[in-house]
Amino acid sequence: MRVVVAGSSGLMGTSLVALLRGSGHEVLRLVRRRPAAPDERRWDPPAGRIEDGALDGVDAVVNLCGAGVGDKRWNEARKQVLRDSRTVPTEVLASAAAEHGVATLVNASAVGYYGDTGDRVTDETAGPGTGFLADLVREWELSTAPAEDGGVRVALLRTGLVLSPSGGLMGRLRPLFSMLLGGQLGNGRQYQPWISIDDAVAAIRFVLEHDEVAGPVNITGPGPVTNAEFTRALGRALGRPTPWVIPGFALRLVLGEFADEAVLVGQRAVPRVLERHGFTFAHSSLNAALNATLSR
Ligand SMILES: NC(=O)c1ccc[n+]([C@@H]2O[C@H](COP(=O)([O-])OP(=O)(O)OC[C@H]3O[C@@H](n4cnc5c(N)ncnc54)[C@H](OP(=O)(O)O)[C@@H]3O)[C@@H](O)[C@H]2O)c1
Repeated sequence: MRVVVAGSSGLMGTSLVALLRGSGHEVLRLVRRRPAAPDERRWDPPAGRIEDGALDGVDAVVNLCGAGVGDKRWNEARKQVLRDSRTVPTEVLASAAAEHGVATLVNASAVGYYGDTGDRVTDETAGPGTGFLADLVREWELSTAPAEDGGVRVALLRTGLVLSPSGGLMGRLRPLFSMLLGGQLGNGRQYQPWISIDDAVAAIRFVLEHDEVAGPVNITGPGPVTNAEFTRALGRALGRPTPWVIPGFALRLVLGEFADEAVLVGQRAVPRVLERHGFTFAHSSLNAALNATLSR
C-alpha cells in the first residue's frame, strides 16, 4: 500500500511510519517545511496547498496533525491554535483525498469527543460530550466530511492516553514519579483510557489494512482504569511510593481550564470496534503496557 502520512514527526507518526515501512508499505510524509529527504512532500495547510503529484497513486492518507492540547496554558488564542491545527489540515486532506480518488482517510481524533463519561463504559456508539475539548473533537471529526461526501472510506481514531517511552504523558509523569512526586489527581475516580504506543500504531495499521472498518474507532486498550489505579500501577512499575493526593484546586491553579477539561475528568472508553474486527492487543493489561514502556 502507498500511504501518505501528515503529522509524521510526532509521537505517533514516528512510530507509525517505522511500523508501516517494516510491514512492507510505501510511506510518503507531508512536511510543512522545505522537503529534505526523498520521501518528503511539501504542503501548506493554511494555504490549502499540497505539492503536485503528492497524492498520485496513493491508497491511503493518515492525518495525525494537531498542536499539543496540554503543551501550553489555554487562553482564547491558544484554543484557536488547537482548533485550527486540526480542522484546517483535516479539511485540506479530506478534500484532496476525494479529488485524487484516494480510497481511505484515517484521521486522528480523541476520546475527548465523549466529554466526561464518569464510570459509564463508553464505546463508539456513544454521543458527544460537552465542554471545549468535546466541541473541538466534534468539529475536527466533521472536517473529514469532504472525504466522506466524495466516497472515501473515513476512519476516525478516537485515541486515549498513549503510553510511550519517547514522551507524551509518560514523558511528563515518569520524572515526577521517579522524584517521589507521583500522586493521585483529585478524587482519582476519573477514568484513564491508556494504550501502549505499540498497540496504538498497530491498531492504525489494522484500520488501514481492513477496508470494512470505517467511522469512529476507539484507539484505547481493553482495560481502562481510574486515575487512582493508574497512579498505583505506575508507582509499582517504577518501584516508587505514591503517597500524595494532588487536590483539584491546586491542579486548577497550575493548569487552569485544562484541569477540569482533561485531568480531573476522563473517559471509560473501550475498543469495541477493534475487538469486533479481531484486533489483538500486544499489551492488554496496564501492567504489561507500563513494563513495555518503562523497559526501553
Ligand atoms: N498521543 C496521545 O496520547 C494522543 C491522544 C489523543 C489524541 N491524539 C491526537 O493524535 C494526533 C497525533 O498525536 P501525537 O501524540 O503524535 O501528537 P504530536 O507528537 O504532538 O504530533 C502532532 C504533529 O502534528 C503536527 N502539527 C503540530 N502543530 C501543528 C499545526 N499548528 N498545524 C499543523 N500540524 C501541526 C506536527 O507534525 P509535522 O511537523 O510533521 O507537520 C506534529 O508532529 C494528534 O492530533 C493528537 O491530538 C494523541
